Amino acid sequence: MTSSQAFRVALVGCGRISRNHFDAIAKVDGLSVSAVCDVVGQRAKEAGEKLGVPWFTSYETMLREAPCEIVTVMTPSGLHPAHGILAARAAKHVVCEKPMAITLASADDLVHACDDANVKLFVVKQNRLNPPVQLLKRAMDKGRFGKIYLANTTVRWTRPQEYYDQAPWRGTWEFDGGAFMNQASHYVDLMQWLVGPVESVIAKTATLARKIEAEDTGVAVLRFRSGALGTIEVTMLTYPKNLEGSITILGEKGTAKIGGTAVNKVEHWEFADADADDALVEASNTNPTSVYGFGHEGYYRNVLSVLRGEAVADTDGRGGRKSLELILGIYQSARTGREVPLPLKA
Ligand SMILES: NC(=O)c1ccc[n+]([C@@H]2O[C@H](COP(=O)([O-])OP(=O)(O)OC[C@H]3O[C@@H](n4cnc5c(N)ncnc54)[C@H](O)[C@@H]3O)[C@@H](O)[C@H]2O)c1
Repeated sequence: MTSSQAFRVALVGCGRISRNHFDAIAKVDGLSVSAVCDVVGQRAKEAGEKLGVPWFTSYETMLREAPCEIVTVMTPSGLHPAHGILAARAAKHVVCEKPMAITLASADDLVHACDDANVKLFVVKQNRLNPPVQLLKRAMDKGRFGKIYLANTTVRWTRPQEYYDQAPWRGTWEFDGGAFMNQASHYVDLMQWLVGPVESVIAKTATLARKIEAEDTGVAVLRFRSGALGTIEVTMLTYPKNLEGSITILGEKGTAKIGGTAVNKVEHWEFADADADDALVEASNTNPTSVYGFGHEGYYRNVLSVLRGEAVADTDGRGGRKSLELILGIYQSARTGREVPLPLKA
């Protein structure tokens, strides 16, 4: 392998999130789109013609015929493991949108299929790469907070009924899950990535307004293994528009809140001891056009560096599995009314 090695990406699922992938790949020298696929012919055709690449309505056919080293899976969440496993068996590296799966067994099947085929598995967690979140991670890693007492993440967003009605998989238990599994899964991930591991969780969920199987609203209380406590508050019913997507950490020697609508702004940053990073706070704020943010480009840069042997994965399959386990713990607690210890029992 040389550091100028280039990789071709074939992508499956040309829905809402696909634009972020196409735009991100176009910005990364060393990556290019080689084919696209969607079962809805019109979507595949539009994407293929816009990008000037072959388009397919059969995923299996694309895997057989399109030259590529990487497959990106952007289909409904419940299909990620099956699509990722097919790609791995075709000897392709897999970039999988979040959540990597909606059951632990199928997440493990995907991880093992990639191990067996000796290909890399990347799970998209682009919010970790938001500049304010990166500053927060560095503050944690440097121990600037001292002992952590309390952490909170709050996702007060709006998803009208029309959003759920756009696609039949949305809000179903078989293919999606609710506010925790889909919209807020990045925020659950940040809690475990920054403050975890989590020792136990107790949660309540509710479907208060949307006609979906899964929850549109939920709250969870966490005990971290460090002894710190945490809370997660999530709703898709905020009137009339997205209000907040934040994470707050309170420690012995520091308090920080990253807020905005999608962890894009430092809203509070105060530490007992100064650090060179403090000068970077102002410049780290971003103003994304959607809550998806700008992180996909950075994510693909990491994918390329890993495949060139120059870096470790920002989030690999085992990293992606941790937040899935926490979300499933939240669901188990909401269902049983009991506190659920982690890791979950098989
Ligand atoms: N990283 C993020 O911030 C982010 C944001 C939005 C969505 N997502 C994730 O991306 C995935 C897709 O979400 P979306 O909002 O783009 O959904 P979407 O419904 O808009 O798009 C999914 C597409 O997959 C296609 N599809 C379904 N089954 C297929 C199959 N067997 N073969 C080929 N194509 C198939 C559908 O026709 C549709 O066009 C979900 O898992 C979601 O959680 C991630």
